Amino acid sequence: SVPWSCLLMWFFSFCSQGWRPSDLRTFSPPEGGLTHLVVHNKTGEVYLGAVNWIFKLSSNLTKLRNHVTGPVVDNEKCYPPPGVQSCPHELAQTSNVNKLLLLDYGQNRLIACGSTSQGICQFLRLDDLFKLGEPHHRKEHYLSSVAEAGTMSGVVIGGDAAGGGGGAGKLFVGTPIDGKSEYFPTLSSRKLMANEENADMFSFVYQDEFVSSQLKIPSDTLSKFPAFDIYYIYGFSSEQFVYYLTLQLDTQLTSPDASGEQFFTSKIVRLCVDDPKFYSYVEFPIGCTKDGVEYRLVQDAYLSRPGTKLARSLGISEQEEVLFTVFAQGQKNRAKPPKESALCLFTLRRIKEKIKERIQSCYRGEGKLSLPWLLNKELACINSVRPTFTVCE
Ligand SMILES: *[C@@H]1O[C@H](CO)[C@@H](O)[C@H](O)[C@H]1NC(C)=O
Ligand SMILES: *[C@@H]1O[C@H](CO)[C@@H](O)[C@H](O)[C@H]1NC(C)=O
Repeated sequence: SVPWSCLLMWFFSFCSQGWRPSDLRTFSPPEGGLTHLVVHNKTGEVYLGAVNWIFKLSSNLTKLRNHVTGPVVDNEKCYPPPGVQSCPHELAQTSNVNKLLLLDYGQNRLIACGSTSQGICQFLRLDDLFKLGEPHHRKEHYLSSVAEAGTMSGVVIGGDAAGGGGGAGKLFVGTPIDGKSEYFPTLSSRKLMANEENADMFSFVYQDEFVSSQLKIPSDTLSKFPAFDIYYIYGFSSEQFVYYLTLQLDTQLTSPDASGEQFFTSKIVRLCVDDPKFYSYVEFPIGCTKDGVEYRLVQDAYLSRPGTKLARSLGISEQEEVLFTVFAQGQKNRAKPPKESALCLFTLRRIKEKIKERIQSCYRGEGKLSLPWLLNKELACINSVRPTFTVCE
């Protein structure tokens, strides 16, 4: 993954005008390094997620606050964590790796989810990192048991904070499941309540007897490919959509025989923000090629707008949203990707056009709708296939 110290320097050197070497401030992370970084869009203050710590820095990288999240007494096999139900496994001091760090602007708080206790989350006040709550009483409060940082991502959709009425927003969460499909959906949308103690916190946005706001990896897929999982590298929202960039096992290239070589592929996943039943879910392969070499393993991404020079050289407007992505070469070795990598830029407009073309040609009955892991077969395109694909209601 990207060395965070470089990123911090990069960030500072680009954000300060008239940068001189003597202005350079550095922040040295504690043992275990940093896992996440978010910048407040108004104050420029920087929030960092680390192993056992959350930090708040000023926009000039002066440390302002810190908050301890671990180690905590835990065992990864315990579910739910001690205090709720007794656990037969031995408990030990366990490091808490920050896996999700999100700004909830509507409620003026930070959402910080860790690796311990099957992935419970803390709500921290933005001003001083005071802990407002840590819901852990219900099944929905456990989001992910995977300890690897950088494999889970979330998108906050603001509630109407101004309008009162509980101010509930939404949290879209994508996570690998590490074989535990009975506990964790791979993708879900959850209620974000204004009050951290509200029992509805993290409940599915919609749930009835048959449908809910979640996607589970089907057991058929897991019995065929026991190692199948989806790693959510980056998530963002734009207009009426939520997007994710994922890495997942390429079930077309990998043979089900467990001893064979594994291949991975990257996808861009899209959902309508206001589709509580997830009918609008689509995914398409994404990657880049240079000099005939393919780069297919997404490492990280960031949605932003180009500066004047870049916009001019790309022949686009400065207002266009651009997805900056880093891909590693090839399709093997997700866990230890090759050093050869490429920085690739996509305009969101082009991505949307591509998705629309694919869906429209599918409506005309051409080609296949590739959702092999979810539907366990290639779904041939027919006129009647899920009509909510291109437009969100
Ligand atoms: C900051 O982001 C929030 C949430 O996306 C948005 O509602 C708000 O308008 C943004 N503020 C600024 C100053 O850009
Ligand atoms: C950096 O920010 C802090 C807190 O906002 C401020 O007190 C300090 O003067 C700033 N330092 C520099 C060198 O700008």
